[in-house]
Amino acid sequence: MRAAYLVEPSADNPVDAITVGDLPAPATPPDWVRVDVRAGALNMHDLWTLRGVGTRRQAGPHVIGSDAAGVADGRDVVVYPVLPIAPNGRTVPHATLLPDAGHGVLAEHVVVPAHHLVPKPADLTWAEAACLPTAWLTAYRMLFTRAAVAPGQVVLVQGAGGGVATAAVGLAVAAGATVVVTSRSPAKRERALALGATVALDSDARVPELADVVVETVGPATFAHSVRSTRAGGTIVVCGGTSGFTAQLDLPRLFAREITVHGSTMGTLDEFRALVAFVDTHRIRPTVDSTVDLADIRVQAGRMLAGTAFGKLCVSIT
Ligand SMILES: NC(=O)c1ccc[n+]([C@@H]2O[C@H](COP(=O)([O-])OP(=O)(O)OC[C@H]3O[C@@H](n4cnc5c(N)ncnc54)[C@H](OP(=O)(O)O)[C@@H]3O)[C@@H](O)[C@H]2O)c1
Repeated sequence: MRAAYLVEPSADNPVDAITVGDLPAPATPPDWVRVDVRAGALNMHDLWTLRGVGTRRQAGPHVIGSDAAGVADGRDVVVYPVLPIAPNGRTVPHATLLPDAGHGVLAEHVVVPAHHLVPKPADLTWAEAACLPTAWLTAYRMLFTRAAVAPGQVVLVQGAGGGVATAAVGLAVAAGATVVVTSRSPAKRERALALGATVALDSDARVPELADVVVETVGPATFAHSVRSTRAGGTIVVCGGTSGFTAQLDLPRLFAREITVHGSTMGTLDEFRALVAFVDTHRIRPTVDSTVDLADIRVQAGRMLAGTAFGKLCVSIT
């Protein structure tokens, strides 16, 4: 089967660490099913894996990718990407992404536990459906589980062009929130307004109204602005740090305004089912920056590294 995989990580050149070639199709364990993948999407996690960071090395080729939509037993499905087994063997709620357990999905075929399959919303293209498992699930949990966003609240989304950020805008708008975004790019700010954001600001610009909830994926480049822009009693939810992992915290502002900071990672299977139903009910279409054939996946990885995309970078696998 055709697959995108890693043989030797490269800290300096993760894009060139991707090989596209033929690998043997995986065997299907009992109670697992084979999915014929139609489309996949890339995530920052894949770049970290390609750099050799945060993933236990696997013997032999390591198929990358957490996001897939495809066909299993004649049904159109999206794949829930989290296995409950941590690398140390313990069972914990959000433990291991499929690729980190040797089941990367950017390949013609992938095997997953049967209960990981959720029907694909009929309106979505394969690429749009493939956006849901990681970025959209993460945004869903950040907004609805961790921050309990309510209609009428003000949600600030930092770094509007990102995969998680575009998901957060789409979900928060559908939930009836007023959405404010920041982006370094005027073109991305325009596109965020077209997704339903009410206000789009340059990074670091003063917000017109302090936010009830801040969706923070960028890290140190925006974190001080996130704290400055949160109302008293408001919530900042953090799922990543694209610009780095060490941020300064204005402690007086944090305690004087009684701001809550939550970490958030991926989501449960129930949250994934709820996300897919929410997207279907509200007829939301995930924002796809571009889709290329799997053979050209390095182009997508390069775009992710450059930070030029607006929305998800997808591959088609047919
Ligand atoms: N914990 C989890 O479960 C989980 C799941 C998914 C992702 N993540 C993490 O969340 C983060 C975002 O992921 P993603 O897939 O959304 O990434 P992405 O699509 O590559 O988006 C990153 C965005 O960050 C902004 N950005 C990057 N550098 C910046 C800088 N120096 N200053 C201001 N803005 C900057 C850019 O926004 P503009 O160009 O619009 O300014 C860019 O669009 C990553 O760190 C990822 O690892 C975590």
